[in-house]
Amino acid sequence: MGFFVGLIVNAVLIGVPIGASLGTLFGVRPFQNERKVAPTDPERFDHILTGSICGEFHEFALNRLGNNYTINSNEILEAPGSTLCTTITKYQNGTYPTSSTTPDFSFTWDYPFKIANASAPRNQTQPLIHAFPQISIADGGVLPIRLEDLGELTLDFKWTMGTGSEPSPETSELRLGAAQVNSSVALDMYLDSTEERARNASSAKFEMIIVFAKYGLQHPVGFGNGTIVKSQTIDGHEFNLFAGQNNNKQNVFSWIATRPVTSINSDLRPLFTSIIELDDKLATQFKVDKPTFTNYLGYAGFGTQAYNSIGNVTFAVRDMQFNVRKFGTTR
Ligand SMILES: *[C@@H]1O[C@H](CO)[C@@H](O)[C@H](O)[C@H]1NC(C)=O
Ligand SMILES: *[C@@H]1O[C@H](CO)[C@@H](O)[C@H](O)[C@H]1NC(C)=O
Ligand SMILES: *[C@@H]1O[C@H](CO)[C@@H](O)[C@H](O)[C@H]1NC(C)=O
Ligand SMILES: *[C@@H]1O[C@H](CO)[C@@H](O)[C@H](O)[C@H]1NC(C)=O
Ligand SMILES: *[C@@H]1O[C@H](CO)[C@@H](O)[C@H](O)[C@H]1NC(C)=O
Ligand SMILES: *[C@@H]1O[C@H](CO)[C@@H](O)[C@H](O)[C@H]1NC(C)=O
Ligand SMILES: *[C@@H]1O[C@H](CO)[C@@H](O)[C@H](O)[C@H]1NC(C)=O
Ligand SMILES: *[C@@H]1O[C@H](CO)[C@@H](O)[C@H](O)[C@H]1NC(C)=O
Repeated sequence: MGFFVGLIVNAVLIGVPIGASLGTLFGVRPFQNERKVAPTDPERFDHILTGSICGEFHEFALNRLGNNYTINSNEILEAPGSTLCTTITKYQNGTYPTSSTTPDFSFTWDYPFKIANASAPRNQTQPLIHAFPQISIADGGVLPIRLEDLGELTLDFKWTMGTGSEPSPETSELRLGAAQVNSSVALDMYLDSTEERARNASSAKFEMIIVFAKYGLQHPVGFGNGTIVKSQTIDGHEFNLFAGQNNNKQNVFSWIATRPVTSINSDLRPLFTSIIELDDKLATQFKVDKPTFTNYLGYAGFGTQAYNSIGNVTFAVRDMQFNVRKFGTTR
Protein backbone atom coordinates (compact mmCIF):
# COMPACT_ATOMS: atom_id res chain seq x y z
CA MET A 1 0.00 0.00 0.00
CA GLY A 2 1.40 3.28 -1.18
CA PHE A 3 1.32 5.42 1.92
CA PHE A 4 3.22 3.17 4.23
CA VAL A 5 6.75 3.79 5.27
CA GLY A 6 8.13 1.63 8.03
CA LEU A 7 11.31 2.03 9.97
CA ILE A 8 13.76 -0.72 10.66
CA VAL A 9 17.24 -0.78 11.95
CA ASN A 10 20.03 -0.38 9.48
CA ALA A 11 22.17 -3.46 10.03
CA VAL A 12 25.32 -1.68 8.95
CA LEU A 13 24.86 1.07 11.50
CA ILE A 14 23.96 -0.96 14.55
CA GLY A 15 27.59 -1.98 14.93
CA VAL A 16 28.52 1.64 15.44
CA PRO A 17 29.51 2.48 19.04
CA ILE A 18 26.51 4.22 20.51
CA GLY A 19 28.45 6.76 22.53
CA ALA A 20 30.17 8.03 19.43
CA SER A 21 27.29 7.68 17.03
CA LEU A 22 24.52 10.05 16.18
CA GLY A 23 21.13 9.61 14.68
CA THR A 24 18.47 7.02 15.15
CA LEU A 25 20.23 4.39 13.07
CA PHE A 26 17.11 3.52 11.16
CA GLY A 27 16.51 2.59 7.58
CA VAL A 28 13.19 3.00 5.85
CA ARG A 29 11.37 0.28 3.99
CA PRO A 30 7.93 -0.04 2.49
CA PHE A 31 5.69 -1.72 5.03
CA GLN A 32 3.94 -4.93 4.03
CA ASN A 33 2.26 -5.96 7.21
CA GLU A 34 -0.51 -3.55 8.11
CA ARG A 35 -2.63 -4.69 11.02
CA LYS A 36 -5.82 -2.95 12.04
CA VAL A 37 -7.26 -2.34 15.49
CA ALA A 38 -10.35 -0.85 13.85
CA PRO A 39 -11.36 -0.02 10.33
CA THR A 40 -11.88 3.63 9.50
CA ASP A 41 -15.13 4.33 7.73
CA PRO A 42 -16.29 0.90 6.52
CA GLU A 43 -19.80 2.28 6.22
CA ARG A 44 -19.40 5.51 8.20
CA PHE A 45 -20.33 4.32 11.65
CA ASP A 46 -19.79 6.86 14.41
CA HIS A 47 -18.26 4.63 17.06
CA ILE A 48 -15.13 5.42 19.01
CA LEU A 49 -13.16 2.19 19.07
CA THR A 50 -10.18 1.13 21.15
CA GLY A 51 -8.01 -1.85 20.26
CA SER A 52 -4.67 -3.31 21.29
CA ILE A 53 -2.17 -5.34 19.32
CA CYS A 54 1.14 -6.78 20.48
CA GLY A 55 4.11 -7.32 18.22
CA GLU A 56 4.91 -5.74 14.91
CA PHE A 57 2.23 -3.23 14.09
CA HIS A 58 1.53 -0.56 11.55
CA GLU A 59 -1.73 1.21 10.94
CA PHE A 60 -2.97 4.04 8.78
CA ALA A 61 -5.26 6.49 10.60
CA LEU A 62 -7.44 8.67 8.43
CA ASN A 63 -8.33 12.17 9.58
CA ARG A 64 -10.90 13.14 7.02
CA LEU A 65 -10.55 16.88 7.74
CA GLY A 66 -6.80 17.18 7.21
CA ASN A 67 -3.60 15.28 7.99
CA ASN A 68 -3.52 11.51 7.91
CA TYR A 69 -1.25 9.59 10.27
CA THR A 70 0.44 6.24 10.60
CA ILE A 71 1.16 4.50 13.89
CA ASN A 72 4.11 2.14 13.87
CA SER A 73 5.47 -0.16 16.60
CA ASN A 74 8.90 0.12 14.95
CA GLU A 75 10.82 -2.54 16.80
CA ILE A 76 14.55 -2.30 16.12
CA LEU A 77 16.09 -5.01 18.23
CA GLU A 78 14.11 -8.02 19.36
CA ALA A 79 14.67 -9.64 22.74
CA PRO A 80 13.27 -12.93 24.05
CA GLY A 81 10.34 -12.48 26.43
CA SER A 82 10.04 -8.77 25.70
CA THR A 83 6.80 -6.81 25.30
CA LEU A 84 5.81 -4.21 22.71
CA CYS A 85 2.09 -3.53 22.50
CA THR A 86 0.15 -0.72 20.84
CA THR A 87 -3.28 0.58 21.84
CA ILE A 88 -5.17 2.98 19.59
CA THR A 89 -8.46 4.80 20.02
CA LYS A 90 -9.95 5.77 16.68
CA TYR A 91 -12.99 7.61 15.42
CA GLN A 92 -14.51 5.10 13.06
CA ASN A 93 -15.88 7.86 10.83
CA GLY A 94 -12.47 9.56 10.52
CA THR A 95 -14.03 12.88 11.56
CA TYR A 96 -12.02 14.08 14.55
CA PRO A 97 -12.60 17.39 16.37
CA THR A 98 -9.92 19.17 14.30
CA SER A 99 -7.98 18.64 11.07
CA SER A 100 -4.85 17.77 13.04
CA THR A 101 -6.27 15.64 15.86
CA THR A 102 -4.56 12.26 16.02
CA PRO A 103 -6.06 9.08 17.41
CA ASP A 104 -5.22 8.55 21.09
CA PHE A 105 -2.50 5.97 21.42
CA SER A 106 -0.24 4.26 23.92
CA PHE A 107 2.69 1.89 23.76
CA THR A 108 3.48 -0.63 26.48
CA TRP A 109 6.95 -2.13 26.42
CA ASP A 110 9.39 -4.16 28.45
CA TYR A 111 12.95 -4.79 27.25
CA PRO A 112 16.03 -6.04 29.06
CA PHE A 113 19.22 -4.03 29.36
CA LYS A 114 21.48 -4.78 26.41
CA ILE A 115 24.92 -3.36 26.51
CA ALA A 116 26.10 -1.51 23.44
CA ASN A 117 29.79 -2.29 23.82
CA ALA A 118 30.73 -5.14 26.15
CA SER A 119 34.41 -4.22 26.17
CA ALA A 120 33.85 -0.60 27.21
CA PRO A 121 34.81 0.36 30.79
CA ARG A 122 32.04 -0.37 33.29
CA ASN A 123 31.29 3.27 34.00
CA GLN A 124 30.83 4.02 30.30
CA THR A 125 28.29 1.33 29.46
CA GLN A 126 25.48 2.47 27.22
CA PRO A 127 22.31 0.48 26.56
CA LEU A 128 21.05 -0.37 23.09
CA ILE A 129 17.72 0.95 21.83
CA HIS A 130 15.11 -1.75 21.24
CA ALA A 131 12.22 0.16 19.69
CA PHE A 132 11.06 3.62 18.69
CA PRO A 133 7.28 3.27 18.38
CA GLN A 134 5.80 6.44 16.92
CA ILE A 135 3.02 8.28 15.15
CA SER A 136 4.02 9.96 11.91
CA ILE A 137 2.48 12.21 9.31
CA ALA A 138 1.36 9.85 6.55
CA ASP A 139 3.67 9.84 3.58
CA GLY A 140 2.17 11.27 0.40
CA GLY A 141 0.05 13.88 2.18
CA VAL A 142 1.68 17.20 3.03
CA LEU A 143 5.10 15.50 3.10
CA PRO A 144 7.56 15.83 1.52
CA ILE A 145 7.49 19.63 1.66
CA ARG A 146 10.17 22.28 1.09
CA LEU A 147 11.07 24.00 4.36
CA GLU A 148 10.43 27.38 2.72
CA ASP A 149 6.85 26.23 1.99
CA LEU A 150 6.20 24.96 5.51
CA GLY A 151 3.44 27.08 7.05
CA GLU A 152 3.38 25.37 10.42
CA LEU A 153 4.79 22.38 12.27
CA THR A 154 2.90 22.36 15.51
CA LEU A 155 2.81 19.75 18.20
CA ASP A 156 0.11 20.07 20.82
CA PHE A 157 0.41 17.20 23.28
CA LYS A 158 0.29 16.01 26.82
CA TRP A 159 1.83 12.63 27.39
CA THR A 160 2.59 10.47 30.37
CA MET A 161 5.12 7.73 30.93
CA GLY A 162 4.69 5.35 33.81
CA THR A 163 5.34 1.84 35.03
CA GLY A 164 2.76 -0.89 34.42
CA SER A 165 0.62 -1.76 31.45
CA GLU A 166 -2.01 1.00 31.77
CA PRO A 167 -1.55 4.72 31.06
CA SER A 168 -0.56 6.50 34.26
CA PRO A 169 -2.18 9.83 35.17
CA GLU A 170 1.17 11.61 35.53
CA THR A 171 4.86 10.96 34.92
CA SER A 172 6.71 10.11 38.12
CA GLU A 173 10.47 10.26 37.66
CA LEU A 174 10.81 8.52 41.01
CA ARG A 175 8.77 5.52 39.82
CA LEU A 176 10.55 5.41 36.47
CA GLY A 177 13.87 5.56 38.28
CA ALA A 178 12.88 2.71 40.62
CA ALA A 179 12.15 0.54 37.56
CA GLN A 180 15.49 1.64 36.05
CA VAL A 181 13.72 2.90 32.95
CA ASN A 182 15.95 4.11 30.13
CA SER A 183 13.74 5.88 27.64
CA SER A 184 13.09 9.13 25.85
CA VAL A 185 10.28 10.98 24.09
CA ALA A 186 11.18 12.49 20.75
CA LEU A 187 10.15 13.91 17.39
CA ASP A 188 12.31 12.54 14.60
CA MET A 189 12.62 14.27 11.20
CA TYR A 190 14.55 13.79 7.98
CA LEU A 191 15.62 16.40 5.44
CA ASP A 192 17.33 16.36 2.08
CA SER A 193 17.65 18.28 -1.18
CA THR A 194 15.62 15.59 -2.98
CA GLU A 195 12.13 14.42 -2.06
CA GLU A 196 13.09 10.79 -2.44
CA ARG A 197 16.05 10.89 -0.06
CA ALA A 198 14.18 13.11 2.41
CA ARG A 199 11.70 10.25 2.87
CA ASN A 200 14.42 7.69 3.43
CA ALA A 201 15.99 7.67 6.90
CA SER A 202 19.14 5.94 5.69
CA SER A 203 19.86 8.21 2.76
CA ALA A 204 18.59 11.61 3.99
CA LYS A 205 21.48 14.03 4.36
CA PHE A 206 20.06 15.58 7.54
CA GLU A 207 18.24 14.36 10.61
CA MET A 208 16.78 16.67 13.20
CA ILE A 209 15.53 15.13 16.40
CA ILE A 210 13.82 16.95 19.25
CA VAL A 211 14.04 15.11 22.55
CA PHE A 212 11.30 16.34 24.87
CA ALA A 213 12.37 14.16 27.77
CA LYS A 214 14.84 11.48 28.67
CA TYR A 215 14.80 9.16 31.66
CA GLY A 216 17.76 7.17 32.91
CA LEU A 217 19.81 7.78 29.81
CA GLN A 218 22.89 9.91 30.09
CA HIS A 219 23.51 9.84 26.38
CA PRO A 220 20.48 9.20 24.23
CA VAL A 221 21.17 8.46 20.60
CA GLY A 222 22.01 11.76 18.98
CA PHE A 223 23.90 13.17 21.93
CA GLY A 224 27.19 13.40 20.07
CA ASN A 225 30.21 13.92 22.30
CA GLY A 226 28.13 15.80 24.84
CA THR A 227 29.21 19.32 23.92
CA ILE A 228 26.36 21.82 23.55
CA VAL A 229 26.42 23.73 20.26
CA LYS A 230 23.85 26.31 21.31
CA SER A 231 20.62 26.69 23.26
CA GLN A 232 17.22 27.90 22.26
CA THR A 233 13.97 28.51 24.10
CA ILE A 234 10.52 27.89 22.62
CA ASP A 235 7.52 29.06 24.64
CA GLY A 236 9.54 28.77 27.83
CA HIS A 237 10.97 25.32 27.04
CA GLU A 238 14.75 25.33 26.80
CA PHE A 239 16.55 22.99 24.39
CA ASN A 240 20.27 22.35 23.96
CA LEU A 241 21.56 21.54 20.49
CA PHE A 242 24.04 18.73 19.87
CA ALA A 243 25.40 18.12 16.38
CA GLY A 244 27.68 15.86 14.45
CA GLN A 245 27.96 13.43 11.57
CA ASN A 246 27.24 9.75 12.07
CA ASN A 247 29.22 6.96 10.42
CA ASN A 248 26.78 7.05 7.52
CA LYS A 249 27.86 10.69 6.90
CA GLN A 250 24.43 11.96 7.86
CA ASN A 251 24.36 15.31 9.62
CA VAL A 252 22.44 14.91 12.86
CA PHE A 253 21.05 17.81 14.88
CA SER A 254 19.57 16.89 18.26
CA TRP A 255 17.67 19.32 20.44
CA ILE A 256 17.46 17.98 23.98
CA ALA A 257 15.07 19.62 26.44
CA THR A 258 16.83 20.68 29.61
CA ARG A 259 13.77 19.67 31.67
CA PRO A 260 11.09 17.15 30.64
CA VAL A 261 8.48 18.74 28.36
CA THR A 262 5.37 16.68 29.06
CA SER A 263 2.98 19.16 27.49
CA ILE A 264 3.45 21.70 24.75
CA ASN A 265 1.50 23.61 22.14
CA SER A 266 4.16 25.13 19.93
CA ASP A 267 5.17 25.67 16.36
CA LEU A 268 8.62 24.06 16.18
CA ARG A 269 9.81 25.72 12.95
CA PRO A 270 12.22 28.06 14.82
CA LEU A 271 14.39 25.00 15.50
CA PHE A 272 14.78 24.46 11.73
CA THR A 273 15.63 28.12 11.24
CA SER A 274 18.16 27.85 14.01
CA ILE A 275 20.14 25.04 12.36
CA ILE A 276 19.84 26.52 8.87
CA GLU A 277 21.24 29.76 10.21
CA LEU A 278 23.84 28.08 12.41
CA ASP A 279 27.05 30.08 12.60
CA ASP A 280 29.52 28.81 9.96
CA LYS A 281 32.30 28.59 12.54
CA LEU A 282 30.19 26.31 14.73
CA ALA A 283 29.21 24.14 11.76
CA THR A 284 32.90 23.75 10.89
CA GLN A 285 33.85 23.06 14.49
CA PHE A 286 31.23 20.30 14.82
CA LYS A 287 31.98 19.06 11.29
CA VAL A 288 28.41 19.29 10.01
CA ASP A 289 26.85 20.54 6.82
CA LYS A 290 23.78 22.71 7.29
CA PRO A 291 20.40 22.22 5.63
CA THR A 292 18.85 25.05 3.61
CA PHE A 293 15.31 26.41 3.23
CA THR A 294 15.08 24.72 -0.18
CA ASN A 295 15.58 21.28 1.38
CA TYR A 296 12.59 18.98 1.79
CA LEU A 297 11.19 17.71 5.07
CA GLY A 298 10.31 14.12 4.16
CA TYR A 299 9.43 12.47 7.45
CA ALA A 300 8.17 13.52 10.89
CA GLY A 301 7.40 10.96 13.62
CA PHE A 302 6.70 11.44 17.34
CA GLY A 303 7.09 8.67 19.88
CA THR A 304 9.14 7.04 22.58
CA GLN A 305 12.57 5.47 22.41
CA ALA A 306 12.51 2.22 24.40
CA TYR A 307 15.89 1.07 25.72
CA ASN A 308 15.28 -1.01 28.83
CA SER A 309 13.36 -1.27 32.09
CA ILE A 310 12.46 -3.68 34.83
CA GLY A 311 8.85 -4.52 33.99
CA ASN A 312 6.31 -2.79 31.78
CA VAL A 313 6.46 0.87 30.86
CA THR A 314 3.51 2.65 29.25
CA PHE A 315 3.83 5.81 27.20
CA ALA A 316 0.41 7.34 26.53
CA VAL A 317 -0.75 10.29 24.44
CA ARG A 318 -4.26 11.76 24.46
CA ASP A 319 -5.91 14.61 22.57
CA MET A 320 -2.83 15.23 20.50
CA GLN A 321 -2.71 17.60 17.57
CA PHE A 322 0.12 17.08 15.12
CA ASN A 323 -0.14 19.72 12.44
CA VAL A 324 2.14 19.96 9.45
CA ARG A 325 0.63 22.52 7.09
CA LYS A 326 1.76 24.07 3.85
CA PHE A 327 2.09 27.85 3.80
CA GLY A 328 -1.08 29.52 2.53
CA THR A 329 -3.40 26.63 3.37
CA THR A 330 -5.70 26.69 6.36
CA ARG A 331 -5.57 23.03 7.29
C1 LIG B 1 -17.98 11.06 13.92
O1 LIG B 1 -17.89 10.30 15.12
C2 LIG B 1 -17.75 11.10 16.27
C3 LIG B 1 -17.52 10.16 17.46
O2 LIG B 1 -18.59 9.33 17.66
C4 LIG B 1 -18.98 11.98 16.46
O3 LIG B 1 -18.82 12.80 17.60
C5 LIG B 1 -19.13 12.85 15.23
O4 LIG B 1 -20.33 13.60 15.32
C6 LIG B 1 -19.16 12.02 13.96
N1 LIG B 1 -19.07 12.96 12.84
C7 LIG B 1 -19.70 12.78 11.68
C8 LIG B 1 -19.54 13.85 10.67
O5 LIG B 1 -20.35 11.77 11.45
C1 LIG C 1 34.30 -0.70 22.83
O1 LIG C 1 34.99 -0.13 23.91
C2 LIG C 1 36.40 -0.29 23.83
C3 LIG C 1 37.01 0.23 25.12
O2 LIG C 1 36.60 1.54 25.38
C4 LIG C 1 36.91 0.47 22.61
O3 LIG C 1 38.30 0.31 22.48
C5 LIG C 1 36.22 -0.10 21.36
O4 LIG C 1 36.57 0.67 20.24
C6 LIG C 1 34.72 -0.06 21.52
N1 LIG C 1 34.11 -0.77 20.41
C7 LIG C 1 33.05 -0.31 19.79
C8 LIG C 1 32.53 -1.12 18.66
O5 LIG C 1 32.53 0.72 20.15
C1 LIG D 1 35.48 5.88 34.11
O1 LIG D 1 36.47 5.44 35.01
C2 LIG D 1 37.79 5.77 34.60
C3 LIG D 1 38.76 5.09 35.51
O2 LIG D 1 38.32 5.18 36.84
C4 LIG D 1 37.91 7.31 34.57
O3 LIG D 1 39.20 7.66 34.14
C5 LIG D 1 36.89 7.87 33.61
O4 LIG D 1 36.90 9.27 33.63
C6 LIG D 1 35.50 7.39 33.97
N1 LIG D 1 34.59 7.79 32.90
C7 LIG D 1 33.36 8.26 33.13
C8 LIG D 1 32.54 8.59 31.95
O5 LIG D 1 32.93 8.42 34.26
C1 LIG E 1 -5.87 11.18 3.62
O1 LIG E 1 -6.19 9.90 3.13
C2 LIG E 1 -7.35 9.91 2.31
C3 LIG E 1 -7.70 8.47 2.02
O2 LIG E 1 -6.61 7.80 1.50
C4 LIG E 1 -7.04 10.72 1.06
O3 LIG E 1 -8.18 10.77 0.23
C5 LIG E 1 -6.66 12.15 1.48
O4 LIG E 1 -6.27 12.90 0.35
C6 LIG E 1 -5.52 12.11 2.48
N1 LIG E 1 -5.28 13.45 2.99
C7 LIG E 1 -4.10 14.02 2.95
C8 LIG E 1 -3.98 15.41 3.48
O5 LIG E 1 -3.14 13.44 2.50
C1 LIG F 1 2.98 -6.24 30.43
O1 LIG F 1 2.09 -5.76 29.45
C2 LIG F 1 1.58 -6.77 28.62
C3 LIG F 1 0.72 -6.08 27.58
O2 LIG F 1 -0.26 -5.29 28.17
C4 LIG F 1 0.80 -7.77 29.44
O3 LIG F 1 0.34 -8.81 28.60
C5 LIG F 1 1.68 -8.35 30.54
O4 LIG F 1 0.92 -9.19 31.37
C6 LIG F 1 2.27 -7.23 31.35
N1 LIG F 1 3.21 -7.78 32.29
C7 LIG F 1 3.09 -7.62 33.60
C8 LIG F 1 4.14 -8.26 34.45
O5 LIG F 1 2.16 -6.98 34.08
C1 LIG G 1 16.94 4.17 1.22
O1 LIG G 1 18.29 4.46 1.00
C2 LIG G 1 19.13 3.33 1.15
C3 LIG G 1 20.57 3.83 1.11
O2 LIG G 1 20.77 4.70 0.04
C4 LIG G 1 18.81 2.33 0.06
O3 LIG G 1 19.63 1.19 0.20
C5 LIG G 1 17.35 1.91 0.19
O4 LIG G 1 16.98 1.06 -0.85
C6 LIG G 1 16.45 3.13 0.19
N1 LIG G 1 15.09 2.71 0.55
C7 LIG G 1 14.05 3.04 -0.20
C8 LIG G 1 12.73 2.55 0.30
O5 LIG G 1 14.13 3.73 -1.19
C1 LIG H 1 19.99 2.23 32.04
O1 LIG H 1 19.55 1.02 32.57
C2 LIG H 1 20.50 0.29 33.31
C3 LIG H 1 19.91 -1.03 33.70
O2 LIG H 1 18.59 -0.89 34.10
C4 LIG H 1 20.96 1.12 34.49
O3 LIG H 1 21.93 0.41 35.26
C5 LIG H 1 21.55 2.40 33.99
O4 LIG H 1 21.88 3.21 35.05
C6 LIG H 1 20.57 3.13 33.10
N1 LIG H 1 21.22 4.28 32.53
C7 LIG H 1 22.21 4.23 31.63
C8 LIG H 1 22.76 5.53 31.18
O5 LIG H 1 22.65 3.19 31.18
C1 LIG I 1 33.17 17.79 21.04
O1 LIG I 1 33.38 18.23 19.72
C2 LIG I 1 33.47 19.63 19.59
C3 LIG I 1 33.58 19.95 18.13
O2 LIG I 1 34.60 19.24 17.53
C4 LIG I 1 34.69 20.13 20.39
O3 LIG I 1 34.75 21.53 20.31
C5 LIG I 1 34.53 19.71 21.85
O4 LIG I 1 35.66 20.06 22.58
C6 LIG I 1 34.31 18.21 21.94
N1 LIG I 1 34.00 17.89 23.31
C7 LIG I 1 34.53 16.82 23.95
C8 LIG I 1 34.09 16.62 25.36
O5 LIG I 1 35.31 16.05 23.40
